[in-house]
Amino acid sequence: MTARIARHADLLSHRDEFPLLGNSVYLNTCSLGARTERSRRRLDAFLADWDELGARAWYRRWLGELDGLREDFGSLIGVPGSEISLAPSVSAALAVVASALDPVHGGDRATLERLSAAGVAAGAAPRTRVVTTSLDFPTIGHQWLARAPLGVELVVVPSPDGLTVPLDAFAEAIDDRTALVATGHVYFTTGAVTALGPLADLCHARGALLLVDAYQATGIVPTDVSTLGVDVYVSGTLKWLFGGPGTAFAWVRPALYEALRPTTTGWFSSARQFDFAVDELALAADGRRYELGTPSVPSAAIARGGLELVREIGVERLGERTRDLGDLLIGLADDAGLTLNAVRSAAERAGIVPIAVAEPKPVVDALAGDGVIVDFRPGIVRCSPAFYNTEEEVRLLVDRLAALVPTRGARVS
Ligand SMILES: Cc1ncc(COP(=O)(O)O)c(C=O)c1O
Repeated sequence: MTARIARHADLLSHRDEFPLLGNSVYLNTCSLGARTERSRRRLDAFLADWDELGARAWYRRWLGELDGLREDFGSLIGVPGSEISLAPSVSAALAVVASALDPVHGGDRATLERLSAAGVAAGAAPRTRVVTTSLDFPTIGHQWLARAPLGVELVVVPSPDGLTVPLDAFAEAIDDRTALVATGHVYFTTGAVTALGPLADLCHARGALLLVDAYQATGIVPTDVSTLGVDVYVSGTLKWLFGGPGTAFAWVRPALYEALRPTTTGWFSSARQFDFAVDELALAADGRRYELGTPSVPSAAIARGGLELVREIGVERLGERTRDLGDLLIGLADDAGLTLNAVRSAAERAGIVPIAVAEPKPVVDALAGDGVIVDFRPGIVRCSPAFYNTEEEVRLLVDRLAALVPTRGARVS
């Protein structure tokens, strides 16, 4: 294992760029990635432009920065920046996409016809169901629970093993009332990677669309949405992009633009934004059609610092390094007699290694007291080493955990 980890050890030269790594053993990137000094420099430049240029900064700098941000995101998922829709959070991006589906749920014939023109065999009857899973992030389900008064029904597929959701379980849940399947590329408590290609095929064979929440995948799971068959892909910069809060995006398959017209909108989605016509709404021909109002440029500046580093190193290497550290953690935790609730195969795991602990909060607090930062969800201590973590940090985490949590060895004696 040491040999395997050494294959990307040169990446540790970036540790100095992350101030947070100097004051703690930070193993909580799945919650919030550390930030680089590149983000501070870009934020300083944003403030300097504001002071120097005032509103002229929009045209001279900031609109260009936003285009750069769209390009950054596009490059990570294999599409041009023009196909990216910026959003302040995944929840906001989902709200816009959900608004575009409302007519389908209501049985609007014109939308069904537009979907069929885009190659989605939705049929002629209203589709009122959205399928998600018990492992998905709550904001996914909430979008559609909030639409219950519109007649939308949320179907939650359980996970048989608490780690993954097999294709068969989706197949049982998707029928001719299903408008959309909404699920994660990587589940946020287990780190399991969903095989998107077969799921997309299944959805399309049944006339449903597939929306994917990639928050725990982007930056560590190499992705090309154009070949995956996904219809909508949303993600953001908080975690594995080291870009902080306030910046997220949606990608909608361009063939669906006409079928999926948002009813939640704003002037940044307009084709002629600077005509200022209050009585006309022509949606932009590109991904901007799913945007809302003035984006948070300071958040974009901070995000682009992290994105610059991710693009420089590459998602392939970042993913390999992350999984190598995950393998190390799993091996050490096994040896220490801790109970793992983790996906064993690195090919099916992203950046999260959950350790089963009945009462995780006091354990996480005690670790934090020692300067070791992880977090918890019900029944687990959630550990997430990132490329910048060392082998020694992972060993320290396992040693501390073994001292705090009853181990298999301890229970037998
Ligand atoms: C899988 C997943 N989806 C969504 C979110 C958050 O979405 P939002 O940007 O709406 O806060 C998180 C974490 O915060 C997450 O882990």
